[in-house]
Amino acid sequence: MCKISEKIVYVGVNDFRKVIFEGMWPLPFGVSYNSYLVLGEKIALIDTAEADFAAEYMENIRKALEGRKVDYLIVNHMEPDHSSLMSIVRDAYPEVKIVCNAKTVPMIKGYHGITDNLLVVKDGESLSLGSCTLTFYMTPMVHWPETMVTYFQEEKTLFSGDAFGTFGAPDGGITDSSARLSGSTDAAGSTFEAFRDEMYRYYSNIVGKYGQTVQAALKKLSGLEISRICSTHGPVWEKDIPEVLACYDRLSRYEGEKGVCIVYASMYGNTARAAKALAAELEKRGVAYAMHNLCTENVSYAYRDTFRYGTLVVGAPTYNNDIFPPAYSFMYGVSARLMKNRHFAAFGSFTWAGASVKLLNEMALRLGFDLISDGLSFSQAYSAEKCDMAALADTIARL
Ligand code: FEO
Repeated sequence: MCKISEKIVYVGVNDFRKVIFEGMWPLPFGVSYNSYLVLGEKIALIDTAEADFAAEYMENIRKALEGRKVDYLIVNHMEPDHSSLMSIVRDAYPEVKIVCNAKTVPMIKGYHGITDNLLVVKDGESLSLGSCTLTFYMTPMVHWPETMVTYFQEEKTLFSGDAFGTFGAPDGGITDSSARLSGSTDAAGSTFEAFRDEMYRYYSNIVGKYGQTVQAALKKLSGLEISRICSTHGPVWEKDIPEVLACYDRLSRYEGEKGVCIVYASMYGNTARAAKALAAELEKRGVAYAMHNLCTENVSYAYRDTFRYGTLVVGAPTYNNDIFPPAYSFMYGVSARLMKNRHFAAFGSFTWAGASVKLLNEMALRLGFDLISDGLSFSQAYSAEKCDMAALADTIARL
């Protein structure tokens, strides 16, 4: 629990217990479930937290309120990491009104069986807490259909739900004037820089498919004067707002930086040797790259760098006359995220008949990627003669 301003108190929690978020994504630096109290003459609680943290969360609220009651629970987003404690809040404050939009109503009933004491708001509608005015803006599909944001007019504060969120739990404070990434040994400059990799990973893993609706939300909110962003995950942004807005804008436009994401999967090491040869050739030419082995690391990081870099190179051997499954699964995820605007090349080994490179190219073409090579399909053991990574690196360096 900590005070952000005279009228806003942070009552969220850090989670260092969960190893895998949503059953898929690693959390090496933890994650926070952010929740806030707005203290007017009436009191609003904005979102809740994950189910495992009921005791710590309710204690934070009790400490902050010193005997006062929660009048409104505002539900910006119904995903259970933010709504699981709704019933417990209602048990503690039976008169609380749950403020939500029409799309949230059936979800509240479905998850909690709650159908009464709901205050359904529309786009642009406001709620007065006395000296504090909260206005609600619908931002559908960022990244669920019911997502909305809450704007606290007097403090120019945007409670943004998952938008502008990041993996990684803040340490040393909640606002970006003091927050650091828990467990990180990097001596990064700003708080944004400390969290940037985890923000890329959060966006690409969780929100990535919804670039178009994130762009619509950014456009819709662009008229608001914003001096503070209170997201549901990660630091409260004050001084680094321009960097955070630019980051979400760039990611949701699928705009890649100059550089290469090499993603590969290998059965007996030949496709891996080709991947490493490409990395060495890129290094010689001073081209930035990241490389991910899908057989040994979670695909979360490969998605992060696919969103980061403008060129994607995928390596997979042929398996059952098809793409080796880890690489197929990765490309399926790239397709599911409606990835755009990438240069693309494929490579991979086969023993008696090559199929993977041709099939990877077809997947890339369906996404509208720019094929910068016919692909490097080679038989049996890797060699530079059979798989000319120097030529591919030359092509990439010229992009
Ligand atoms: Fe953090 Fe979409 O929930």
